[in-house]
Amino acid sequence: MNERKRILTGIRPTGSLHLGHYAGALENWLRLQSEYECYFLIADYQVSDYADDIARVRDSVWEVALDWLAVGLNPESGHFVIESLVPEHAELTTWLSWFLPLGMLQRNPTLKAEMADFGKKSVPVAFFTYPVMQVANILMPRAHLVPVGEDQLPHIEMTRELARRFNRQFKEVFPEPEGLVGRVPRLVGVDGQAKMSKSLNNAIYLKDDAKTVTQKVMGMFTPRMSPTDPGDPEVTPAFMYHEAFNPDRAEVEDLKERYRKGAVGDAEVKRKLAAAINTFLDPIRDRRATYAANMPHVREALEYGTNQGRAIARETMEMVRDALDLGYLGKY
Ligand code: TRP
Repeated sequence: MNERKRILTGIRPTGSLHLGHYAGALENWLRLQSEYECYFLIADYQVSDYADDIARVRDSVWEVALDWLAVGLNPESGHFVIESLVPEHAELTTWLSWFLPLGMLQRNPTLKAEMADFGKKSVPVAFFTYPVMQVANILMPRAHLVPVGEDQLPHIEMTRELARRFNRQFKEVFPEPEGLVGRVPRLVGVDGQAKMSKSLNNAIYLKDDAKTVTQKVMGMFTPRMSPTDPGDPEVTPAFMYHEAFNPDRAEVEDLKERYRKGAVGDAEVKRKLAAAINTFLDPIRDRRATYAANMPHVREALEYGTNQGRAIARETMEMVRDALDLGYLGKY
């Protein structure tokens, strides 16, 4: 019997993962992977360019799996699940949609912001309803904990609400899952924008080589005008990254102190930061190279994990059908 509590969390396969993913979520996944039974979902049903660029989705499934292995997720204890290969997600989404008032979806701040990003392009219906599927993702393995980036919290709030409604109205099937946000809830981009993201083109990727990282760091946005101006480390991207990725506390404190007095150049701050990030990324790059040279192993991880995801999904759907009393044919 497996008595461990369960984690379900996921990522959309839109490309390679970056430092923001690491500090905001992956770090927690790594820390918790042996304590919980984990389901790590590659949420391919939820990629907004599904209809336009299926090749990119397909490639990104592998990119995400490689990044996960590279950071040290263990595919034997945590299951790498490809969402659409567990069609129960679609089934549960359909049932849950009946218990979710439209207004709750319309008020979801994360969804609102993402829909605004479509600009003049029309929003596919499936995009509008993806948070419902995310609720289904979380409820599918009857998860207790959902370690995610801060922007995902509204979806977890919806999940708790739907779990409560379902349990109250039918049967106690679902735990009310808790969200857990990482050490750095939101990492700024190298350009100083609020969020590191692929679409803003301001990210440092886990798979970037040392030269690329150094270039991105040296070109990082700097708020002060001259190196002799006193600066505020709290609002300076390079220092936010130092806080997040430089384990040499003494070095960081020394730089901050001199920066406040206008006694250190940005180049020195950035050079030391590039070195720290590269030291942090080196083992990740090494592991990635090892796995990239052995793609059948990556495939096995995906296949095994997806089978495990399917097994618990079947179990949950039995419980759901029983709770909803859907055994129509048993009547005669
Ligand atoms: N929407 C999440 C993101 O954009 C990805 C995701 C899909 C997810 N299903 C999930 C996260 C379930 C946590 C739990 O990153």
